[in-house]
Parts: sequence; structure tokens; C-alpha cells
Amino acid sequence: MKIIGTGSALPAQRVTNADLMKFLDTSDEWIVSHTGIRERRVTDAESVAELGALAARRALEEAGVRAEDLDLLLCTNVASDFFTPGPACLIAGALGYAGQTLDVNGACTGFIQAVDIADAYFRAGKAERILLVAAEKPTYLADWADRATCVLFGDGAGAVLLQRSERAGCIATCLATQPNAEFLNMPTPLGNCPFTHREEGPRYLQMNGQEVYRFAVSACVKDLRAVCEKAGVALEDVDWFLLHQANQRILNAAQTRLKQPREKFPGNIERLGNTSSACIPLLLDEMMRDGRLREGQLVALSAFGAGLTHGAALLRI
Ligand code: ACO
Repeated sequence: MKIIGTGSALPAQRVTNADLMKFLDTSDEWIVSHTGIRERRVTDAESVAELGALAARRALEEAGVRAEDLDLLLCTNVASDFFTPGPACLIAGALGYAGQTLDVNGACTGFIQAVDIADAYFRAGKAERILLVAAEKPTYLADWADRATCVLFGDGAGAVLLQRSERAGCIATCLATQPNAEFLNMPTPLGNCPFTHREEGPRYLQMNGQEVYRFAVSACVKDLRAVCEKAGVALEDVDWFLLHQANQRILNAAQTRLKQPREKFPGNIERLGNTSSACIPLLLDEMMRDGRLREGQLVALSAFGAGLTHGAALLRI
């Protein structure tokens, strides 16, 4: 498979650390030193589907491909505009696409799961063109009275248009789950079914930050080593490591353990915060457009998130 187009869409509203200090007991110094984040984009009136459709249109336009020429529109998302229909259907509606859609909720690992699914479709001869759209609004999940979590997140959408090709663009993937709903979760609200008896859970995202940190660093390092080993590629031969942008300290710890140069770990967390599964496609789009990503380069992706899901993919651009 080959990437033939990419696109991004961000909410217009920019929220700086100084904006957060107006209602939270926090500081720019704490947020920057503990997370690397200076500002993030937060949806105001934009819906997840609007952001996803805008990113999707940009990827299609760049490649000169019409929506009706897609064989699959695959959307990754955690919090959308509706429980149902899923965001892939809403984005399809905005694009005027009536073919197969698929929604994947693999938390922050969603985009790598989507790459793996797309690769399997191509290998099985089931598709010529697949559009991956990661459209995320994690700011909806966060408790904006909890300074340890709300400062981390930002909204946005990234899209990547893939085409089947003879050359193996997706060289290897490795995906796994360490089942654990305790460290990172968001319960669904109670309905009003009179036959269901359970207690109302917390209304916002719950996170054990230190456990998530430990899991993230070890999963990321293990997955990147495993995917390179599977492909028979040395870490030194990888041009770029594109990691889920959860926290700059996680990225730094992974980079140190992998003993690879800091310059190989580009990021967008400083400007965008943690945009869940959209982090990596947003980064891919930015690097494609500014020319950092070039044909023939080897790119290793790694992500980790609620589930606990984690995984890596090695791509040849
Ligand atoms: N501003 C100021 N002080 C804060 C803030 C804040 N925004 N948040 C927490 N603190 C305080 C705490 O209240 C605590 O104060 P206390 O010592 O008086 O009790 C102190 O800072 C230390 O709190 P910790 O929770 O121990 O802080 P820690 O150093 O662990 O940093 C953080 C917290 C940044 C969340 C860290 O645990 C982390 O990065 N974890 C990874 C989680 C993550 O990245 N999640 C992203 C979403 S999930 C995903 O994408 C996979």
C-alpha cells in the first residue's frame, strides 16, 4: 500500500495554558514541565464529523481522488457526536460517499489498528483505495475541574488516503492488548431502563496517570523493537519514529531507552496536546506537506491507550 494523500482539520479555538489558569489551580510551568504542552485546540461549534470530513476532503483533493472511488472509509474515534450512528457514517454523508464504512474505537491506538486493517484489505485484494480518518474530541471526555487530566487533551482530525500497490508500504505491524479498564476509562451514563440496576459511575474520564505513564513507556519501547525485529530492520535504519503524542515525558523516555537521536522523534504535542488517535495522522500530514517525509523513508509508528491497547507499524513511504 501507498499513502497518496493526507489532510488535517483543527478546531479554530486555541486554548493556551494561560487560559486554563483562569479557572484551574495550575501553571504554565507545571504543564510544560510535566507534559510538554503549551496550547491545544478545543472544539466550540465544530462537530467531530465536520472536522473528520474536512480532513478527509483535504486528503482526497491532494490525491485528486473522488469519494465515490473509495472502497472503504474507516474512521477511528473515541467520543463522537452520537453513540450511533458512528462517525464513519456521518463523514460518509458529508462526503457524499455510499460505500462501505467501518468505525474503530481502539482509543489512542486506533490509527495503527486502522493501518493494520487497511493493509489486510489490500493484501486480500478487497480494496484499491481506503480512506482512514481519525476524528477525535477527547476534550469532551475530560473533567475540566480535574487539573491532572484536562490539561492533556486537544481536539482534531487527520486523514490518510491509501492505495493498493505492489510495493509493501506496510512492512510489519504488531498489535496487542493488556486488558485493564482500571487505569484509563470513561463509564457510559446510566439509561432509564427500569430493569437495569447498577450505580451511576463517574461522568468523566478516569486516569491513573502514573500507571498509564509506566504502561505507555514500556509498551512503546517493546512494540517498536518488536516491529523492527519482525521486519528485519535495525532501529538505526528507521528515518522517523512517530509516536502517539500523550506526553512529552513519555516520548523522551522512549527515545532514551531506544537510544535513537531526538531529531528522529518529531512531535505536535506542544501545539495540539493529546488528540488521541488523531495524533499520528496529524503529524503525518504536517510532515508530508512540509517535505520532511519523503518517498522511500522508513517510518515507525507507535501508539498506546485505553484498553489497554498498544501497537506499532513500520511503513515505507
Ligand atoms: N497543575 C499543577 N499541579 C498539578 C497538575 C496541574 N495541571 N496536575 C497534577 N498536579 C499536582 C498533583 O495534584 C500533585 O500534587 P500533590 O503532590 O500536592 O498531591 C502533583 O502535581 C503530582 O501529581 P502526579 O499525579 O503525581 O503528577 P505526575 O508527575 O504523575 O504527572 C501526569 C501527572 C502528567 C498526568 C503524568 O502522570 C503522566 O504523564 N501520565 C501519563 C498519562 C497520560 O499521558 N495520559 C494521556 C491520556 S492516555 C493516553 O493517551 C495513552
